[in-house]
Amino acid sequence: MGKVVVTGAGGYVGGSLIRRLLDDPDTEVVGVDSCAMAHGAEGVREILQHPRFTLVREDVRNTDALVPLIKGADAVVHLAAIVGDPAGRRDPDTTRAVNIDASAALIDASRDNKVGHFVFVSTCSNYGVSDSNTLVTEDGELNPVSLYAETKVAVEKRLLDEKELPATVCRFATVYGVAPRMRFDLTVNQFAIEAFRDGVLEIYGEQFWRPYVHVDDAAAGIQLVLSKPDVSVGRVYNVGNSGENYTKRMIFDLLKERLPELEGKWVNVDEDPRSYKVSFERIRDELGYETAWDVPSGLDQVLDQARVGAFPDPEAGRFRN
Ligand SMILES: NC(=O)c1ccc[n+]([C@@H]2O[C@H](COP(=O)([O-])OP(=O)(O)OC[C@H]3O[C@@H](n4cnc5c(N)ncnc54)[C@H](O)[C@@H]3O)[C@@H](O)[C@H]2O)c1
Repeated sequence: MGKVVVTGAGGYVGGSLIRRLLDDPDTEVVGVDSCAMAHGAEGVREILQHPRFTLVREDVRNTDALVPLIKGADAVVHLAAIVGDPAGRRDPDTTRAVNIDASAALIDASRDNKVGHFVFVSTCSNYGVSDSNTLVTEDGELNPVSLYAETKVAVEKRLLDEKELPATVCRFATVYGVAPRMRFDLTVNQFAIEAFRDGVLEIYGEQFWRPYVHVDDAAAGIQLVLSKPDVSVGRVYNVGNSGENYTKRMIFDLLKERLPELEGKWVNVDEDPRSYKVSFERIRDELGYETAWDVPSGLDQVLDQARVGAFPDPEAGRFRN
């Protein structure tokens, strides 16, 4: 597919996405990452010598430095961000500068430099609380309840208002699964590693719903969007599977089947502003997207790795945002 620039290349999603893109012998990938987080650029460390991959250590706030990279690129996939509610809260000015201002400048530069397709990765947590009897679609109301989600909504709007840049928004479900840069601050991964290590899980608000998607399926979703620009340009897609909405209790029960000694400590929470069930029919109907993983197989994947000692120190900063 030619030249693809991926920002946030060294992160959890970036590492999986770039490996998939490089499977196509006609694709060259330029990754951009500040490498300033505790994990460095762990997601791509093992492919730094790949002949069709280059990692540029740069901050996305420095738009001028990105221009020569994106000039004439067939696609830009914009992943770089301060990711997650807790990380987003830590330094709100920096979160806005990275997530909103730098993204807006990158959108302008991509338009001016004739980028073929701009894919912005956003989040289903933009929906905020919703009725648990219905599945929210892409046309559903957005109720961001954190600064992180607010920044994602702002960039979506900015991008969809931009008429001269072919663009797509991908709203990911919460991601799980093993990747070159692992994260243990995401529910499925966190529950699996804590259940394995401690034999007990403390669960806040067992009844709240969320959709989940495996990191490799999330990467495959972007790849599919890039491969079908005639359909995907100008569209917003939830990336996941309608059958993969779970409560925390359901994830606990799946773990209990695998680790029968597991105990639950239940902490009652009456309201979670981020309880939502999501429909993923649009990406399936329009692009033919199917997921290969589900939460049970993802739990097995994390547990199998944990059993062979892959994560001796899951509390380490490089596993968390
Ligand atoms: N992981 C999820 O559950 C999830 C769900 C929905 C959406 N997303 C979105 O997917 C994208 C990737 O998320 P992830 O889980 O891989 O997170 P991550 O934190 O692992 O990766 C983000 C990468 O961006 C880089 N980065 C941060 N600030 C930068 C800056 N100023 N300049 C250059 N690079 C910078 C970081 O070094 C990191 O490698 C994000 O946009 C996120 O909002 C993720």
